[in-house]
Amino acid sequence: MIAIFYLVLQILKLYSYVVIANVIVSWLIAFNVLNTQNRFVYAILELSYKLTEPFLNKIRRFLPNLGSLDISPIILLLLIWFIEMCMKLYVRNKEKSANEVGLKSEVIKYPDTVEEKTVLEKIQELNSDETVSGILVQLPLPKHIDKQKVIEAIDPSKDVDGFHPMNVGNLSSGYESSVPCTPLGCYLLIKKIEPNLSGKKAVVVGRSNLNGKPMTQLLLKENCTVTITHSKTKDLKAECLEADIIVAAVGIPELVRGDWVKKDAIVIDVGINKTDNGIVGDVHFDEVSKNAKALTPVPGGVGPMTIACLLKNTIDCFKRSQI
Ligand code: GUN
Repeated sequence: MIAIFYLVLQILKLYSYVVIANVIVSWLIAFNVLNTQNRFVYAILELSYKLTEPFLNKIRRFLPNLGSLDISPIILLLLIWFIEMCMKLYVRNKEKSANEVGLKSEVIKYPDTVEEKTVLEKIQELNSDETVSGILVQLPLPKHIDKQKVIEAIDPSKDVDGFHPMNVGNLSSGYESSVPCTPLGCYLLIKKIEPNLSGKKAVVVGRSNLNGKPMTQLLLKENCTVTITHSKTKDLKAECLEADIIVAAVGIPELVRGDWVKKDAIVIDVGINKTDNGIVGDVHFDEVSKNAKALTPVPGGVGPMTIACLLKNTIDCFKRSQI
């Protein structure tokens, strides 16, 4: 009896230590004595993992059924030109992830001197190949190749990037379409952090076709009030200060500063900028992490979601081709 009493006493003592330690750490974080950076990084990485894993598992479960149904395999194609090291790594990750979940992928490489005609002919060939479900042409392209022509040459039903004007139009009309992978990944992250976005004020920094514009459409669909800002916006800081959600996709290193962000805003950093201090995002991480409720780190924040969305888009294209 005494032994049990002693054991319970010890457990209670231990528990009180844990509670006290917890309170102290919370105070240290609240008063910015402890750097909150790791807390944010950990939280977002965990969230990203929680979101991507079910996606990938779904694909892993879906693929083995194909053999018994005797239908076309899925091939994800990436065409690569001269690209910077960080982009090369990104493309390699796309290929690795595709293979990891069991999607066939093939990378077709061309030198940066390749003729536009050769590329367009290859796309035509892939369009008519029934074993190919998705086509992705890695951007940027060399200057002598017309990006618009290349994007428009891809069959919209195989456009895993969602860049074809038909898919862009469908997205903005609220119809079914391929949605560009990075904004789709950002959108899913935001929804996980804040499921009800109705009436929230969102500021998108950057107006590119790849990120800013589709991001705006996705947030509009959720009834956000969206402001698209860019390099010519008069007072970017004032716009950002109004925002419940900021998506920075402008390609300017650490543009968004700590005093641009209101308390408990959600900040998504899409930037990948090479600087003398390594790769940084469009958001000043140390400063903004003191105000934001959630902030994605660079690298590692939205990247895994982008890749998961690419695989999801490929499967969706495949499924649509089977109807
Ligand atoms: N270059 C940088 N991001 C992307 C992307 O999402 N898709 C393609 N095709 N190229 C890119």
